[in-house]
Amino acid sequence: MSSKKKILIIQPIHTAGIKLLEDNSDYEFEIVENTDVEFLKSKIKDCDGVSIRTAKLAREVIDSANKLKIISRHGVGYDNIDLESTKKNNITLAITATANAVAVAEHVMFMLLYISKKGNMYDDTVKSGKFNDRNKLPKTVELWNKNILIAGFGRIGQALIKRCHGFEMKVFVYDPFVSKEIIEQHGGIKVDSLEEALKSMDALSLHVPLNEKTKNIINYDLLKNMKKNCIIINAARGGVINEIDLDKALNENLILGAGLDVFEIEPPDTNNPLLKNNKVFLSPHTAAFTEECMIRMGKETIQNIIEFFDDKLEKSKIVKL
Ligand SMILES: NC(=O)c1ccc[n+]([C@@H]2O[C@H](COP(=O)([O-])OP(=O)(O)OC[C@H]3O[C@@H](n4cnc5c(N)ncnc54)[C@H](O)[C@@H]3O)[C@@H](O)[C@H]2O)c1
Repeated sequence: MSSKKKILIIQPIHTAGIKLLEDNSDYEFEIVENTDVEFLKSKIKDCDGVSIRTAKLAREVIDSANKLKIISRHGVGYDNIDLESTKKNNITLAITATANAVAVAEHVMFMLLYISKKGNMYDDTVKSGKFNDRNKLPKTVELWNKNILIAGFGRIGQALIKRCHGFEMKVFVYDPFVSKEIIEQHGGIKVDSLEEALKSMDALSLHVPLNEKTKNIINYDLLKNMKKNCIIINAARGGVINEIDLDKALNENLILGAGLDVFEIEPPDTNNPLLKNNKVFLSPHTAAFTEECMIRMGKETIQNIIEFFDDKLEKSKIVKL
C-alpha cells in the first residue's frame, strides 16, 4: 500500500496549485469535476485531504470519509461545508485567508462605478441616435464625498475601505465584532445600528458571512427607509439580501441600483426577476476571478493542506468550529 497522502481535489483549481502536489513526493491526488453526493462518497473514502471550491460538501459525504483530516476551501466563505460533521469527525477546515480580499474589493469598486457612471449608457442612448441630445442623456453620479456603509469589516471590508478612501468617500462601518478603535485606525466611522445608518447612505457594500444571523439582513423593512439614490453591492453571499424584497424596492424606485455577484441559489433560477431588472448589474460569482487571484487561491488551497500535515498551518487560516 502507498504511504503517500491522498488528496481529492473536488472541482479543478489553477495549475499553479496542482504543481505544488506534483512536485511533492509525499502526496498523490485526483481531480474530480462530478460533485454528486454518491460519487463523492465513493471518492472521499480513503482520502487524507480534500480541496473544494463552491460545491456542497454534505454531511453524508464527510461522514463517509474514514481518514479525512483536512478540508481546504478554495476561497473564504464556507457555507457550502457541513460544519457539524466536520467538527464531529475532528477535521480541520482551512480557508485561503490571504488570497482574495483585493480581487473582491476591486470588483466592488467596478460595480459601484458601473452603476454610478451608468456603464450601459452607450447602448441605451447613443446607439439610438441620441449622442448629440446632451440634455437628454442620463446624469451620472460621483462617488466623491458620498457615504458608503461597509457591513462586515473583515479581510474584504478592510481592503475595500482603502479603495473607497481613494475615491474620497466617507466610510461608515457596521460590524459588531470589530472595535471602534480598529475601525477608526482604518479611517472608518463605526455605526451600531444598521437600520439607522442605512437611512443616510448613498452606497452599501456587504461583506458579512452567511449564517442564521445574517440571512436576509437586508430586507424590505430596511430598503424602504433608504435613500433613493442608494446603490447596494452584494459580493458576499446571496442569502444576505432578500431577493424578492430587493426586486420590489428597485421597482418601487426606493433605491437606485444593485450590483450582485452572488445569488441565493447558484446558478440563479432563470425566472429570478433580478436577472431581468435593468437596475441590476450582474456578475456570475466572479468577484475573485482575477487571473492573479486564481493563482493565489489555487496555491494557498494546496499550501494549506501541505502545511497542515507539516504542522505548520497558521491559526488565521483555520476556521474555529
Ligand atoms: N463573491 C465572491 O467571490 C466572494 C469571495 C470571497 C468572499 N466572499 C464572501 O465574503 C464574505 C466576507 O469575506 P472576508 O474574507 O472579508 O471574511 P472575514 O471573516 O474576514 O470578515 C467577515 C466580517 O463579518 C463580520 N460579521 C460577522 N457577522 C456579522 C454580522 N451579523 N453583522 C455584521 N458583521 C458581521 C465579522 O466580524 C468579520 O469582521 C465571506 O464570508 C464570503 O461569503 C465572496
